[in-house]
Parts: sequence; structure tokens; C-alpha cells
Amino acid sequence: MDIKLKKVKAISGAVEVPADKSITHRAVMLSSIAEGDSVVRNYLPSADCNRTIEAFRQMGAEIKIDNDNLHIKGAGLNLKKPQDCKYNIYAGNSGTTARLISGILAGQNFETIIKGDESLSKRPMGRIIEPLSKMGAEITSNEGLLPLTIKGKSSLKAVNYECDKSTAQVKSAVLFAGLYADGATTYAEPVKSRDHSERMLKAFGADVRVNGNFVTIYPAQKLASQDVTVPGDISSAAFFIAAALIVPDSNLTIKNVGVNPTRDGLIEVLKRMGADISLMNPRKVSNEPICDIEVRYSKLKAVNVDASVVPRMVDEIPIFVLIATQAEGITRISGAGELKVKETDRIFAVASQFKKLGAQVEPLDDGFIINGNAGVPLNGNLLDSFEDHRIAMTLSIASLIADGETIIKDSNCVAISFPNFYEVLKNICK
Ligand code: S3P
Repeated sequence: MDIKLKKVKAISGAVEVPADKSITHRAVMLSSIAEGDSVVRNYLPSADCNRTIEAFRQMGAEIKIDNDNLHIKGAGLNLKKPQDCKYNIYAGNSGTTARLISGILAGQNFETIIKGDESLSKRPMGRIIEPLSKMGAEITSNEGLLPLTIKGKSSLKAVNYECDKSTAQVKSAVLFAGLYADGATTYAEPVKSRDHSERMLKAFGADVRVNGNFVTIYPAQKLASQDVTVPGDISSAAFFIAAALIVPDSNLTIKNVGVNPTRDGLIEVLKRMGADISLMNPRKVSNEPICDIEVRYSKLKAVNVDASVVPRMVDEIPIFVLIATQAEGITRISGAGELKVKETDRIFAVASQFKKLGAQVEPLDDGFIINGNAGVPLNGNLLDSFEDHRIAMTLSIASLIADGETIIKDSNCVAISFPNFYEVLKNICK
């Protein structure tokens, strides 16, 4: 489905964004391997999270949906082999489902096949195959790509694993496998990636110890059921933060947004650019910091963004590029090579579509050079989302400051993380 959008006068009002995708996946997974009844409040009912729910239903967890809440009767650490069919687990478009579930499957006494859609079938799985194989799982793949066949073992070998990238998906897979290991498993990464798994594993009773960029997990006899409340997703809020910053006369409040320090890179960088952003009413839900974010239209200065901050804003880089096109001066982004292996090659997607909008965005192997035009409007055009939810939403926000009409192809892919994106957007556009 294509969508047609036009320039707007201002962005204003107060909104709530949907629940955090990363936290929803983890809450479903840990509740499913816990013992007893868990509740996941304010879960994200998006296409990606539904893949995780379906997978654990197939492996013996009872998951009931009651409005915004999930009621999950856990199957315990030892799951049931999913029914025999062409594939046992279908991860769809969801890298988080495929990679995190692999850590749990590595510790099962059965064999499972994981498949995904066309996009996921091009994304690298070698990064989880390597550590999980070292721990003793037998994994075959299509030359490092899906489908994966995972033959698990109920007792894995504990390892010390040092990853050369900062990736929460690999870290989480290893930590989940560590629950089934024969001793302490330690994971190290160059810059700390999102730590929702560590926080939630602790809440479910696992022995997890964090020391800087090192995490150690001890084997578990069982996990205890929990009552989890999922905060709003800062990666979804990022689109509206951007809209309010770049559309003149805007003033927006986004309520109940998770601001975990491993996810708040965008806010830090925007403040460096001179953005008028206030974090109000700081509080905690389920051991995650949240607040209400107030954003006003701002005149921005260019900045440099490098590998030390990229892991804390990895999913926000496409929308950040849009913001940088509206700043004064040249913004350089480096250390973001991982963008090439997201739902699409986001370096190519962003550079090619921003060129069509008339912005000066040069792609690099690991980032971008953006020549900010300090408020000169973009030009509407026919744009390709590459069926990537974050590209579709980035281009939609770009259209709000583009002259003429912008058409975005396959805009329905926003349902991967933000099913009612266009309704929420409509409500704040003046
Ligand atoms: C995620 C980790 C990140 C992120 C993805 C969700 C997670 O991926 O891009 O959208 O929930 O752990 P990487 O681990 O590949 O950086």
C-alpha cells in the first residue's frame, strides 16, 4: 500500500507511542521459559512481536491476550518441541525473534528449524552461530543465513565470549544460552549495547552480574514468573521528536517513553545540536527508566556522531539523518556499518531516497556525510520504503517539510513496530 503525504504547518499536542519492541520480545521469551503465571502489561502488538508470541505458543507456553496485556503461563526452561511442519519457527521480518530465540533453542533437547521472510533471510546469522556453537549447540545454516537448524543440548558449555561488535541480539542469545550452561558464561562487547536482557533476567531471578561492558550469567534451575510493564519505545518516539524539531512552530509532548541509558544516544546528540528537548517526570517501570519528553522546534547545529554513541541510537540513525539535513553545517556519522545489515541496507536506502528529496546526503561505508541546509525545504517525490518500517517512517516525517506531494511505497510495513503510526501522526499534524 502506498501513502500520499503533504507538508504541514506545525506539530503539536500530546501523544503516547507504542510499547518498546525490544522489551516486549524479551518479556514474552522470559515469561515463556519461567515457571508460573506472568503478566506483560502494555505489550507491543506489532508484527515482529507477534512472531515471538507465536513461536513460544508452539513450544508450550500458554499466552492469552487481554487488551494491552499478555497473560503467560510459562512452560519452564525445558520447552516442548514445536510441531513438525516445513519450519518449526517462523520469525518473519524479526531479527530479534530469530537471534534471541536461538539462544534458548541452544539449550533444548530437540532440533528446531527457524525460517524468516525474504529480508530476514539475507541478514547475517553467523554472529550467533559462532558463540552458540562454542557452547555446544549443533547449528547448520545456509552459509550463515536462514534457515537455521539448531540441535540443542540441555547442558551447554560455559564460555567467555568477546564479541567484536556491539549487538544486543548476540549478547542476549549468549546470555539466554548461559541459563543452560555448566558454569559462569561471560560476554564482552566494545561499547555497551542495550541492556534490557540483563535487567529483565535479573527480575526473573537469574544470577546476572554486570561490570562495565562485561556481563556474567550463571546457570539457572528455574526462572520465576513476573509482572512486567513495558515502557513506550524511544525508537518510535524518535520519529515524533524529529517532526517537532524540524517543523516550524511545533511543540509536542510524548508520554511514558523509555529512556534507558543504553538507548538514549539520540537525545544526547540532539541536545549537543542545540535541540529544545526536556525530559519531564522521570520515574521507573519494571526496572526501566521512563519520562515524558517535551520537544519544541529548534534551530540546530551540525555534530559528529561516531562509534562510541552509535550503539545507543542504532535504530534512530535514519531519522537522525533527516534531522541533520535541517541543521546548519556538515554532520558526519561514522561507525554505523551495521546499518547495512538491518531490515534493508539502511545506508543505501537513506542516501538514495534523500537524494530524491533534494537533500545532500553522501553515503559512506560506515555512515553518512550530511550537508545541512538549515531549514530550506525538501522536495516531495515518489519514494521507496524498501519495505523497511524505519525507512517508511523516516520518509513520512521528511514529507512533513517537503514541498508538493510525497508518495511512499509499501508504507504498510510500519506495522512491524508501529501499527497505528499514521493515525498518531495525523492527530499531531496541524
Ligand atoms: C535489538 C538490537 C539491535 C536493534 C534491533 C533490536 C534488540 O540490533 O537494531 O532493532 O532488541 O536486541 P543489533 O543487536 O543487531 O544491534
